[in-house]
Amino acid sequence: MTQKFDTLAVHAGAEPDPATGAVAPPIQLSTTFVHDPAGGADAFSYQRANHPTQHRLETALAALEGGERALAFASGMAAVAAVLDTLQAGQRVLVPEDCYVGTRGYVTEVLPGRGVEVVTVDTTDLDAVRAACAGGIALLWAESPSNPRMRISDLAELARIAHVHGARIACDNTFATPVLQRPLTFGADLVMHSTTKYFGGHSDVLGGALVFARDDDFTARIAQRRLLTGAILAPFSAWLTLRGCRSLPARMAVHCMNARKVAESLAAHPAIERVHWPGLPSHPGHAIAARQMRDFGAMLSFELRGGYDAAAAVVRSTRIFTNATSLGGCESLIEHRASAEGEHTQAPPALIRISVGLEDADDLIADLAQALVCDRP
Ligand SMILES: Cc1ncc(COP(=O)(O)O)c(C=O)c1O
Repeated sequence: MTQKFDTLAVHAGAEPDPATGAVAPPIQLSTTFVHDPAGGADAFSYQRANHPTQHRLETALAALEGGERALAFASGMAAVAAVLDTLQAGQRVLVPEDCYVGTRGYVTEVLPGRGVEVVTVDTTDLDAVRAACAGGIALLWAESPSNPRMRISDLAELARIAHVHGARIACDNTFATPVLQRPLTFGADLVMHSTTKYFGGHSDVLGGALVFARDDDFTARIAQRRLLTGAILAPFSAWLTLRGCRSLPARMAVHCMNARKVAESLAAHPAIERVHWPGLPSHPGHAIAARQMRDFGAMLSFELRGGYDAAAAVVRSTRIFTNATSLGGCESLIEHRASAEGEHTQAPPALIRISVGLEDADDLIADLAQALVCDRP
């Protein structure tokens, strides 16, 4: 019987323990496993290669994204690096102009030294992407919605362009999660997640994941690299993340509902120049988001009329929103992105990014309203 998404989220990888009958998935901490006395292949041998709790999590991640195989990593950046490290000297990678600062750091600080050419393009502009690919391309990296400007790229079109050029397309799906968007269904070859965010869901576990459309040689190469670099996810982290998967659809529904109310109230506020949230009809990517996403997510950013100092003051004035980096937890977070990203930031100076949590939306709106009154340099 084919199961619907919310049923898969609760049950995939989370079957009762056959050894004990425990209904809640067990955590298995052993670093080593007894070899098959008959000399056959071992399901598990050593924790750095694979372990039962990570295996359960990977079963769940593959089911939720609709891929043939998933690999769990020690962090989102470990997953990003595992993909980018497959590029060889002379190859070109296309990355979005607006993307997670760590991904940008890896492509600008690490790849050029290895002879990989990095081409930065606004991936919302398909003509610009086509022109950039004309010089040959090995990998197209997409991130939609993007961090921190919530840009929306047309994933089906990007996949078509990448494949015409014989390239792979990877999509960072951290902001959307598979609840809202499944890039493999639009032709992406692999999906990347910082599971530190919505999958974990409680700001208490670091992790990353890759989900592959096909379990082929490329997937095997990345799995081998994870083994050799020791970038596997630890058992307790895998267990917490699997626990997060089970409530992910329910949490995302409340996150998205709250974000809509917050975005609409901010859009009407006189101190705010523009709100970046793809659910607003004024957002340039609204039509594409409405087509490729089930809802519009709970990450949003906005730019204040008052500039850098005003934005820095607002994030110090909230009482429910916590001024901290990261996203996807139960609690709402707020951050002045230019000061958080440091000297290499490309964030607009007056941009504030918020992760809308699971509190009552009225309280969140009231908190932002009182902080915006404090909008003083
Ligand atoms: C969109 C996105 N991708 C990747 C990462 C990196 O993930 P991690 O911090 O788990 O290494 C982050 C972290 O904030 C992110 O927001």
